[in-house]
Amino acid sequence: MASETERVVKLLQKTAYMTPGERETHLTNFLYFPPGTSKEVVIKSYTEWAPTYVETAGGYTGYLLGADEVTSRVPEDQRHSLRVLDVAAGAGSVGLELSSRGFKLIDALEPNEEMMKHLETTGVYTKKYLEFLGDGAKSVPSDAYDVLICAGGMLEGHIPAKGIEDMIRVTKPGGLIIIVMNKKHLHKVEDYKGLENYMESLQEKGYWKKVEVKTVPNYFTGSDGIIFTYRVL
Ligand SMILES: C[S@@+](CC[C@H](N)C(=O)[O-])C[C@H]1O[C@@H](n2cnc3c(N)ncnc32)[C@H](O)[C@@H]1O
Repeated sequence: MASETERVVKLLQKTAYMTPGERETHLTNFLYFPPGTSKEVVIKSYTEWAPTYVETAGGYTGYLLGADEVTSRVPEDQRHSLRVLDVAAGAGSVGLELSSRGFKLIDALEPNEEMMKHLETTGVYTKKYLEFLGDGAKSVPSDAYDVLICAGGMLEGHIPAKGIEDMIRVTKPGGLIIIVMNKKHLHKVEDYKGLENYMESLQEKGYWKKVEVKTVPNYFTGSDGIIFTYRVL
């Protein structure tokens, strides 16, 4: 597994010096977390990636799609007063976007210390939870957020499907949960093959209600994304 981390890290370092076109080709071909990637490898990969994450994530638009979706769902006059939780916040790209669009109360959940250090330099987040989603996220209070946004956090070895339960717990009744992910992960990542049915089952149990599910183009180097928007009940 360590060699897998090294491979990803080397690739990422290399892409920092590439033209945008070259970088896109390389990321499409090589940057992926293979089936069975452990939490430890995910953490190690981001620890090494953190210093160059923003520059080398070219071809990834999930943070913009997520910020667009949140913005389209929240009227301008409410943005300053609603509490937003950015889950799998990484280096803070979603928060920076939301801040520039009038959101003032933005908190972050991110398990990787190095990514968190970069996130802190954005200056747009209030509370920061150094925490995984999927194990209960116990440091995050219940019913606390009006909007939960998760962009790019659903992929192999990252947030498990059962992490949705943590998302619902920390969101206020009436609040929105917006999940943006690469659509192909729904059939490539074992844990997500039943994700849509699982989401439906949570609706049948009365935890949340679907607002919209839509496919969007160009999530990552030409791959479609999917945006799930649910309202917590
Ligand atoms: C591809 S980055 C996305 C970062 C940011 N949301 C963006 O759009 O640029 C994925 C992030 O998910 C975090 N992550 C991995 N496993 C996680 C988990 N179980 N719960 C929360 N975040 C996780 C990683 O540390 C990493 O920072």
